[in-house]
Amino acid sequence: MVYQSNLLTQPLLPTEYAQLANEELDQRIAAAKQALGKDLVILGHHYQRNDVIVFADHRGDSLQLARIAAGLQDAKYIAFCGVHFMAETTDILTRDDQLVILPDINAGCSMADMADDTEVEECWEVITSKYGDSIIPVTYVNSTAAVKAFVGKHGGLTITSSNAQRVIEHALQSADRILFLPDQHLGRNTGVKLGLQLSEMCVYDPKEMQLVFPHGEADPRMILWKGHCSVHEKFEPHHVQQVRDKYPGIRVLVHPECQYETVALADENGSTDYIIKAIQAAPAGTKWAVGTEHNLVNRLAQQHPDQFIISLNEMICPCLTMNRIDRPHLLWTLDHILAGTPQNVIRVSPEIASFAKAAIDRMLEIS
Ligand code: 13P
Ligand code: SF4
Repeated sequence: MVYQSNLLTQPLLPTEYAQLANEELDQRIAAAKQALGKDLVILGHHYQRNDVIVFADHRGDSLQLARIAAGLQDAKYIAFCGVHFMAETTDILTRDDQLVILPDINAGCSMADMADDTEVEECWEVITSKYGDSIIPVTYVNSTAAVKAFVGKHGGLTITSSNAQRVIEHALQSADRILFLPDQHLGRNTGVKLGLQLSEMCVYDPKEMQLVFPHGEADPRMILWKGHCSVHEKFEPHHVQQVRDKYPGIRVLVHPECQYETVALADENGSTDYIIKAIQAAPAGTKWAVGTEHNLVNRLAQQHPDQFIISLNEMICPCLTMNRIDRPHLLWTLDHILAGTPQNVIRVSPEIASFAKAAIDRMLEIS
């Protein structure tokens, strides 16, 4: 049965699934995949756990997965091993007869949840009454479909971490200022890369419904929504000093969702794809402290045993919401597809989808 996906709740899995041994889970998932053949495509984000991502037909970062989803022709069912906003984007980019399924409906994103569309409407009123209408809204794809639709409706566009610089530069050329949602850190780090001063960026606090000027009130080019990723925020400047003291010669490589002070101290920063490629291109013996999601860092360490790769914060947890998708949930999902009763189908309403698609298409055109 298909419901409006934001109203779905995750049922408890039948106990049978929790009791299966790992080998049996693997065998049954593989058998279900084989039975579904071309009808099923499994997509997996790089932050997904190893025991699940091994079943992905395609792995990638959010931009790569969005592009792959847009090109899927044969798949009737797309099981998205990632988080809710990624599955929504996939639904927006695929045909109506293709069903996008999130194996655990509780696999959300704390950052996306920090901006709801009502708060964004309130913010728009506050900032347009202060600065007039030469503002373009830009949202990180890590946002709800409703926020993407707001952005699309107001002539704005989406970005991902791998095209942030290009897309924000484009937006800054077309308007006096931009409203950047929902990750203040990615916004600030990208603004600095584009040559903006910290004083040219202010923060909008949705709880207080007001602008905050941490570097003194000036005319802002970027208005940053006060949101963050609860995983990447845990990489702090003191971790950079600690790993440098402990492992002389180590290179610090972080994702731009980390706070500005950490990024400023790092040797390099870039998207998930940038991090993977930097490590692939490095010679044997290179030492890295990587500031991004735990599963990806561990996988990179396993794939490159000739390099020394650790997490920048060794006490960090994985992205807990993404990790809700485990083998029992994947098998339960596939069993329901086989039985003709697909569960957790992600459906974005047509009106939201069409405005959100406009924002995504504008991004895809320039990236
Ligand atoms: P990218 O895949 O765009 O690097 O995004 C990172 C992330 O936090 C995904 O949720
Ligand atoms: Fe969201 Fe952060 Fe998890 Fe990415 S890593 S899905 S931004 S909470």
